[in-house]
Amino acid sequence: MRQHVNPLSKHFFEIDPIPPLNKVFENPKLPLHLDIGCASGDFLFELSLKNKNWNYIGIEIREKLVLNANLKIKNKEFNNLYFSFGNANNIFDDPKNKPLINSITSISFNFPDPWFKKKHHKRRVIQPKFINFLSNSMQKRSLIFIKTDVKELFEYMELTISECINFQKLANQDFRFNESFNPNKIQTNREKYVIFNQLKIYESIYMKI
Ligand SMILES: C[S@@+](CC[C@H](N)C(=O)[O-])C[C@H]1O[C@@H](n2cnc3c(N)ncnc32)[C@H](O)[C@@H]1O
Repeated sequence: MRQHVNPLSKHFFEIDPIPPLNKVFENPKLPLHLDIGCASGDFLFELSLKNKNWNYIGIEIREKLVLNANLKIKNKEFNNLYFSFGNANNIFDDPKNKPLINSITSISFNFPDPWFKKKHHKRRVIQPKFINFLSNSMQKRSLIFIKTDVKELFEYMELTISECINFQKLANQDFRFNESFNPNKIQTNREKYVIFNQLKIYESIYMKI
């Protein structure tokens, strides 16, 4: 079992600023998707190869995974993919990252760490402050996707996002996935495990209004 990283430790306070989009993507004008807690990035590597009409950024708190993923990117095929190391909660404190958030079309939180104990809830990646920040910075009609197999975490994430009046929940069954960042419904590594073990998946989509 992997050791969880404490996102509140001082080590994660400073994070690498993300370079301007025209320095990292061949076509910076494409719609941009941000995957938070992307782990080794397998999901994003697959997405970026299948969907050349999207740009993808993954943010991950485990530095080694990001270093390895960015080494893999040196391969020219991946001209629409970038990984950034850091605590996603702090990544937007750097004003240099502000233009990035304005360019985001969608964000996903796939199977975030649950931090079950109440005293550890503040380590969860979805926090009221973070959601408020996103609600003040994201463009209208941009989307947030949340997905987990932990019911209690799902309820917590739903409550935190729905308390922000700028986000409206969309009906999953009417959502046009074919127009989204993941038209082929590619699964993350955790999602594959959860499906294999026949566990329930809870998911919601929110739109900035
Ligand atoms: C349970 S794993 C899920 C990985 C992947 N999204 C999936 O579905 O397979 C959660 C990931 O989020 C990362 N993580 C946790 N807190 C984070 C934070 N504050 N900022 C960035 N990444 C974080 C963890 O290191 C871990 O890789």
